[in-house]
Amino acid sequence: MRTLTIIKPDAVAGGKMGKVLAHLEESGFTVAAAKFMHLTTEQAQAFYEVHAERPFYGSLVEFMTSGPCMPMVLEADDAVAKLREVIGATDPAEAADGTVRKLFAESKERNAIHASDSSENATNEIAFFFPNL
Ligand code: CMP
Repeated sequence: MRTLTIIKPDAVAGGKMGKVLAHLEESGFTVAAAKFMHLTTEQAQAFYEVHAERPFYGSLVEFMTSGPCMPMVLEADDAVAKLREVIGATDPAEAADGTVRKLFAESKERNAIHASDSSENATNEIAFFFPNL
């Protein structure tokens, strides 16, 4: 089973991309696809369209376009639920010890990593970044 993750611009700019990737691999995921890219405003707006009415939407789009990021397709048994567990709560202050966000995130917005929240969204998000997969 597959899911979509993004190592976000804060983690890349902070020099933590390799550590986050190592943590994911050590947690049992294999990388099926990856690309290093700088999202356009249109791409970030489209990816986070579900949050368009939220007060943090503009700021989130600005953050996600502030520098390069690394979208990846990860494979593991029960990948969607497993990755949610490995990355921890949205807010690093609430994330469990040993999770990616507890270890590497700065704030609720600048939270180092994205993960699909359902298998349906995983399918859609994988197609968004990797239409030929
Ligand atoms: P992500 O898992 O990528 O899904 C939506 C993103 O919006 C989330 O991670 C955070 O980066 C951001 N986000 C969610 N809630 C808030 C909030 N209350 N304030 C600022 N950013 C948020």
